[in-house]
Amino acid sequence: MNRIPLIAGNWKLNLDHLQAIALVQKLSWTLEDARHRFDEVEVAVLPPFTDLRSVQTLIASDRMGLTLGAQDLSPYDSGAHTGEISGEFLKRLDCRYVIVGHSERRRDHHEDDAVVASKVAAAVRNGLVPILCTGESANQRAAGETGAVLRSQVQAAIQGLPAEAEIVVAYEPLWAIGTGTPATPEQAQQAAALIRSSLGERGERTRILYGGSVDVDTIAPLMRQADVDGALVGGASLDAERFAGIARYRSHVSTR
Ligand code: PGA
Repeated sequence: MNRIPLIAGNWKLNLDHLQAIALVQKLSWTLEDARHRFDEVEVAVLPPFTDLRSVQTLIASDRMGLTLGAQDLSPYDSGAHTGEISGEFLKRLDCRYVIVGHSERRRDHHEDDAVVASKVAAAVRNGLVPILCTGESANQRAAGETGAVLRSQVQAAIQGLPAEAEIVVAYEPLWAIGTGTPATPEQAQQAAALIRSSLGERGERTRILYGGSVDVDTIAPLMRQADVDGALVGGASLDAERFAGIARYRSHVSTR
């Protein structure tokens, strides 16, 4: 099964629309200079909502190879839901991806598995590919619950989803996000394999990303794992050179 690797930059609550334009321009030039093959490693940016229109216009007018996505969406498509952004709106902005169930939203906005499932369904209904985030806390790992946590997060989120719907799953252990220390390649592989088996029939074709403190010097060994098909990059995606370096992991000289 040919799963095209995906390197996606989750900007979180960073960069206004003017800063977004500057970063995307620099990212595109850096990748172009390196003759990056976007058909071999897909590179996506996931800016805040207010940046999307500017980045969409830039990508289209300069015919950049980058793909666009958002960081969240409403479970509703329209109506009396103040402050919400629908999947339909995102689709109109040429978004291909949308993050669903990031641990920061589960924590800050009390999103439980039911909310996450309804957002995954809304994404698919509107022709978007959800990047479903999963991951265990340090306590859950210490208690030996990693497998059970990942399995239940995946199964709750994809319940009732049409078999042909495309999704991406990110394994993002909470203890690695924003710490500067990623999971080891072995830990990432073990979790990714478990997630793949939890996906049942759609497992083979579904891309599974690793996320949590990914950087230029840690990406290559992670990407050498059989079940790791890409990365969801937070902090390091805010720097064009670093993010381009991560996307160019295939050109790194092996250090292991
Ligand atoms: P980080 O964030 O790369 O800054 O650890 C990853 C994420 O939370 O998606």
